[in-house]
Amino acid sequence: MTEMTVAANDATNAAYGMALEDIDVSNPVLFRDNTWHPYFKRLREEDPVHYCKSSMFGPYWSVTKYRDIMAVETNPKVFSSEAKSGGITIMDDNAAASLPMFIAMDPPKHDVQRKTVSPIVAPENLATMESVIRQRTADLLDGLPINEEFDWVHRVSIDLTTKMLATLFDFPWDDRAKLTRWSDVTTALPGGGIIDSEEQRMAELMECATYFTELWNQRVNAEPKNDLISMMAHSESTRHMAPEEYLGNIVLLIVGGNDTTRNSMTGGVLALNEFPDEYRKLSANPALISSMVSEIIRWQTPLSHMRRTALEDIEFGGKHIRQGDKVVMWYVSGNRDPEAIDNPDTFIIDRAKPRQHLSFGFGIHRCVGNRLAELQLNILWEEILKRWPDPLQIRVLQEPTRVLSPFVKGYESLPVRINA
Ligand code: HEM
Repeated sequence: MTEMTVAANDATNAAYGMALEDIDVSNPVLFRDNTWHPYFKRLREEDPVHYCKSSMFGPYWSVTKYRDIMAVETNPKVFSSEAKSGGITIMDDNAAASLPMFIAMDPPKHDVQRKTVSPIVAPENLATMESVIRQRTADLLDGLPINEEFDWVHRVSIDLTTKMLATLFDFPWDDRAKLTRWSDVTTALPGGGIIDSEEQRMAELMECATYFTELWNQRVNAEPKNDLISMMAHSESTRHMAPEEYLGNIVLLIVGGNDTTRNSMTGGVLALNEFPDEYRKLSANPALISSMVSEIIRWQTPLSHMRRTALEDIEFGGKHIRQGDKVVMWYVSGNRDPEAIDNPDTFIIDRAKPRQHLSFGFGIHRCVGNRLAELQLNILWEEILKRWPDPLQIRVLQEPTRVLSPFVKGYESLPVRINA
C-alpha cells in the first residue's frame, strides 16, 4: 500500500469511527491534509443537513447534498448573505465585509449592484481582452525551465493570475504584486502570517482605495479603453458609483478572480497527472479543452463553501433551523454527490454536462466572473497543449502542499518538471 492509500484509509476509519454529532467539517486541517472526503461522504449518506454544536467558528449547520445546496441558494428570503447578518463565509468578523460588496448583500440592493457591474465582465467585453491574455500567457510559458524541478504554484499560477488581473485592470505593470497582496489581505485570517489584525487589514485596503481612485480619475478623463476601470468610468450605469461602492466592487473583482482561478490552474495539472488517460484523450482531441476546464473547476472546487444566515425559523431537510443560525453550503461535497454527478470522484474531461457543478454557486449570487475564469483557463490549456502535447510531459514530482483553510481550497506549492 502506498503512503497515500494508508492516509486515505486512516481518514476513512476516523470519519466513520466517531459519533456523528462530533463531526466538524470546518476543521481547516481536513483541507490541508486532503482528508475531507470520507467525512462529507458520511454526512451525505447519514445526516445530509448536519448540526455541529462547537467548532473554531462556533456552531453551524452543514448542507452537503447537491439538491439541498440548490434549495438554500434559491431561497435568499430565508437564507441571507447580508454582511450584517454574518456574511458569506463560516468566518465572522472580517472587517473587509464592511465594504459594500454585492456578494454580501440581499435583494433588492444586491440585484441593482450586480446588474450594474456584470456587463463589465460580459463575454463581448472579455473577447476584446483575449489577445492580450493569450500573449501574456504564451510569454510566461515560454520562460519556464525545462528538464528541471520548479514550483508550478509560484512560477505559473500566482504569476499568471497576477498578470491577468493587471491586464484586466490595465494596472501599472511594475506595481502588480500589490494586487495579489490586496487580495491576500482581504481573505486572510489575522495572525495566520499575512496580517496581524483587522486594523492592519483596513489600513492596507485604504491604500488600495487611494490607488484605484487615482486610476479612476486618470481614466474618466481619457479616451475609453478596454480595461475594467475605464469600462466602469465610462459606462452610464457605473460612472456615478459612490467611492466606497467603487472600492467594494474593485476588491470583489480582485478577490473573486484571484485565488479561485489560481488554484484551478494548479488543480488541473494535478488532476491530469492523477488521471493520465484523460491527458491522452485531450492530446488526441484538443476540442475537449473547454469541457475539461469545467471539469477542472468542479474537481478542484476552489471555494469549499459559501455561508448563509437563517432570517427565520425553518424546517429544512427534516431539521429545525433557527433564526440567526449559520448555514454552510459545502460545494466541495455537493460536487461529489453521486445522486447529482455520475462517478463524481473520477476526473472525466468529456462529461455529458460538464458545466453542471456547484463551484460557481447557484441562483442570484452565481459567480459573475465565471465566463472570465473559463476564458483564462481555456487560453492557458490551449497554450500548454501547443507546447507540451505528450501525456505527462508536465510531471508532478510530489504531493502538493495545500492551504490551511475551510474556505479557499487550494495549494501552497506543487513541485513539477517539464520534460522536453
Ligand atoms: C474558477 C474561478 C472562480 C470560482 C470557482 C468562483 C466562485 C464563486 C462563488 C462560489 C461565488 C458565490 C456564489 C454563490 O454564493 O452562489 C462567486 C461569486 C462572485 N464571483 Fe466568482 N469565482 C471564480 C472566478 C471569478 C472571477 C474571475 C471573477 C471576476 C473577476 C469573479 C467575481 C465574482 C463576483 C463579482 C461574485 C459575486 C456575485 C453575486 O453575489 O451576485 N469570480 N464566485
